Amino acid sequence: MSKRIQVNDLNVFYGKFKAVEGISMTIEPRSVTAFIGPSGCGKSTFLRTLNRMHEVIPGAYVEGEVLVDGDNLYGEGVDPVLVRRQVGMVFQRPNPFPTMSIRDNVLAGVKLNNTRMAKSDADALVEKSLQGANLWNEVKDRLNLPGSGLSGGQQQRLCIARAIAVSPEVILMDEPCSALDPISTLAIEDLIEDLKREYTIVIVTHNMQQASRVSDKTAFFNIAGTGKPGKLIEYADTTKIFSNPDVQATEDYVSGRFG
Ligand SMILES: Nc1ncnc2c1ncn2[C@@H]1O[C@H](COP(=O)(O)OP(=O)(O)O)[C@@H](O)[C@H]1O
Ligand SMILES: [Mg+2]
Repeated sequence: MSKRIQVNDLNVFYGKFKAVEGISMTIEPRSVTAFIGPSGCGKSTFLRTLNRMHEVIPGAYVEGEVLVDGDNLYGEGVDPVLVRRQVGMVFQRPNPFPTMSIRDNVLAGVKLNNTRMAKSDADALVEKSLQGANLWNEVKDRLNLPGSGLSGGQQQRLCIARAIAVSPEVILMDEPCSALDPISTLAIEDLIEDLKREYTIVIVTHNMQQASRVSDKTAFFNIAGTGKPGKLIEYADTTKIFSNPDVQATEDYVSGRFG
């Protein structure tokens, strides 16, 4: 299920503004890769291009290639809807559909994909996805109540259940814990640890402890100044980035000297 992502010389533009420049990297399957760097250096922009989510922003486009197990996401005739099914995304603020029940929230992506399903199959998928998101025990007795009734941490796990219900190969997470309290944050981190057995996971985080706790590899991004494009500065094993990076700017950032 889990797949390797290879990025070749990627530039990302918003109209004339080049927000991200010259990114080449390989993201390994069955692992967690953390993106770190100061605000505005293009982490979210780059992350969105890994499932073509930037295309919903008028004027946004890329140059370069993103290969998922060798297939270019930007190849001719590739359907972005199928790309987003293969590469799921979890956002900064939990965004369950507020009036939908917990059950229907889990099935929302599956229904969008137009899959017709027997009720028993749907029930099994709801249970499996909520188990996978480590939320089942907390919600199994209230599946028909609205998702908005859950706590923030539970809502974020519901969004993760919704993402995994469509059986993606890759899960992208953009600061998934930034709106959560420390206990819910640890619950999500434990979940990420479990999920990496099956999925390729990329997480943007501003929390250095989180990056060092959950990720196998870390990519440090930076910008030379306002209006300049963000670049990948250093990419290596997380232990190396946090203990013995090659680049001074990485060292300064992870030790809290700027950013
Ligand atoms: N929808 C957008 N339209 C135009 N410019 C954007 C948009 N989103 C982000 N940017 C710009 O792209 C640059 C990188 O932003 P972003 O990817 O959000 O950085 P980060 O996630 O690292 O904080 C910033 O200069 C930001 O203002
Ligand atoms: Mg961001």
